[in-house]
Amino acid sequence: MTNETVKPEFWESAFGEKQEMWGFEPSKSAVWAKDFFVQNSVKNILIPGIGYGRNAQIFKENGIAVTGIEISKTAIEMARKHYGKDMVIHHGSVTDMPFDRTQYDGVFCYALIHLLDSTEREKLIFEAYQQLLDGGYMVFTVISKEAKTYGQGKFISKDRYEIFDGVHMFFYDQESIASEFSKYGLLEVREIMENQPFFLIVLKKVIIL
Ligand SMILES: C[S@@+](CC[C@H](N)C(=O)[O-])C[C@H]1O[C@@H](n2cnc3c(N)ncnc32)[C@H](O)[C@@H]1O
Repeated sequence: MTNETVKPEFWESAFGEKQEMWGFEPSKSAVWAKDFFVQNSVKNILIPGIGYGRNAQIFKENGIAVTGIEISKTAIEMARKHYGKDMVIHHGSVTDMPFDRTQYDGVFCYALIHLLDSTEREKLIFEAYQQLLDGGYMVFTVISKEAKTYGQGKFISKDRYEIFDGVHMFFYDQESIASEFSKYGLLEVREIMENQPFFLIVLKKVIIL
């Protein structure tokens, strides 16, 4: 299923034209999450919106198994070329999760959720949480309202703008983070500077019986 906010053709042509557009180095968020997952003995993670895998390799190198979900076939082929064929990557939209019945002990989701509308964002967090083992951790990286692009482009709805080529972006602040994530075991929110100011959101699943 795809809808107006899910843009497979945009990502296909972006990867087709620009190839490895973010290079091969992992993001700062991925480096932080790797340390955090290692400290917390996380062994098996799901990465929705894995792209061509630049953020996956650092987890694999540290003994963490990775499964991805990615909407662009071209990005999946690039991931296989650069990082090997052993990694399972489901081809499709995160709006169609779940893709498997595996229970993961970690989720890492970088720069994806802010591309979705509010219903899709809620479903992504919910489905990721459903696939998380009790005691597991999730790390989401999301764009901040401090970004220069905030307020640019066509206004779609509160804090959501059409940034380019029909791609919509939701800009987060502490309030919207609390409202969307607090019922999923929100542990910590950190500001992190990637190519733009982002928030790193850390969650832990604790089932209270
Ligand atoms: C901003 S990029 C971040 C990529 C990757 N996390 C990285 O930094 O290397 C967003 C990624 O999510 C993918 N994507 C966008 N919408 C998606 C969706 N609805 N379902 C699955 N993947 C999606 C894009 O193809 C792209 O690879």
